Amino acid sequence: MAQLIAPEQLLAPRLNSHVGEILPSTLVDGFGRVHNNLRISITDRCDFRCVYCMPEEMEFYAREVLLTYEELQRLAGIFVRLGVDKIRLTGGEPLVRRDVTRLVEALTRLPGIRDLSLTTNGGRLEQFAQGLWDAGLRRINVSLDTLDAERFKELTRRPFFDAVLRGLEEAGRVGFHPIKVNAVAMRGYIDDELIPFAELARSRRFQVRFIEFMPLDGDGGWGRAQVLTAAEIVQTIHAVYPLERVSPAGSSDPATLYRFLDGGGEIGVIPTVSEPFCATCNRVRLTADGKLRYCLFANQETDLKGPMRAGASDEQIAWLIVDTVRQKWAGHLINQTGFEKPIRNMSQIGG
Ligand code: GTP
Ligand code: 5AD
Ligand code: SF4
Repeated sequence: MAQLIAPEQLLAPRLNSHVGEILPSTLVDGFGRVHNNLRISITDRCDFRCVYCMPEEMEFYAREVLLTYEELQRLAGIFVRLGVDKIRLTGGEPLVRRDVTRLVEALTRLPGIRDLSLTTNGGRLEQFAQGLWDAGLRRINVSLDTLDAERFKELTRRPFFDAVLRGLEEAGRVGFHPIKVNAVAMRGYIDDELIPFAELARSRRFQVRFIEFMPLDGDGGWGRAQVLTAAEIVQTIHAVYPLERVSPAGSSDPATLYRFLDGGGEIGVIPTVSEPFCATCNRVRLTADGKLRYCLFANQETDLKGPMRAGASDEQIAWLIVDTVRQKWAGHLINQTGFEKPIRNMSQIGG
């Protein structure tokens, strides 16, 4: 008969490999990059089915697979001890998880968090904006890829265009600032909407950011030809509304920002494919099922949930995080021959 080994024993050698060492106070990788920014996916579920993110039919994790709020708070505390001071909640769609405001409230109370934010599809924002604000959230990013209701239905496979617009209005009314609008720039979809989006940024003072289409879609349909590049986007808008770059070189933000020269607001581009910004990356990701990823495109993950549920101490979990970050690669391989798309799609990673 096979001998049963307790999970604690299986994990013991790795978990105990740093006994006696002093835990670092920052997460530094082998390239000297300091990681202070954690993206936490709190659910893989979503009420939309955006073509660039998920297949039409999707199987979601069972509830017990997800990290509980208590586990998330514990892990967040460990990350803060390791120097993380910026947390973003993502999904799937974070607002579909029950009592999300309870989690937000707990995280805003965590000493050491300088910036807590959330990325939402906006479908439930009208209903949640006030509660999120009351829980202590002050800024929010909202996905919106088109200003046309019919195209919205085609892209998200759901008829919630008006709900997203109402959500944006409500977020503004409640006081969120900045409100960033994320538009995935798929060639053939957004090309003729760049100017209307620029006008939205000018008239409403939303920071509109165009995101290059990344190979993380659920249908496997990504192709280089469908990537409308950051340079094309900036040129097209600049020709109508002159722009000036404002992002400093070497910034850790994925978005390169431009302001309108006549003073009316700003836009951004996130050029993952055409101009990778991995050299200044400061982000790690926690998936809804408790895996730590050192890159959006990583093909390896570290399980934190298993050890935690098997009784690992905070110190032991912290070392798993430190070791994972130390293994981080220089950058994604989208532009190399032989690039392999991660097994998980965007909704399972959290963007
Ligand atoms: P803030 O700048 O703090 O407002 O957040 P953000 O722009 O990082 O967050 P958001 O969730 O709005 O992400 C916008 C887009 O940037 C999404 O498509 C993300 O997938 C993408 N993004 C965020 N971090 C990274 C990253 O490390 N690498 C790449 N390639 N894309 C990223
Ligand atoms: N490429 C680029 N951005 C994507 N997002 C989802 N899938 C993709 C993709 N394949 C964006 C969403 C959201 C953010 C978290 O990631 O629109 O704004
Ligand atoms: Fe849902 Fe966001 Fe993915 Fe769209 S991009 S299916 S809204 S998780």
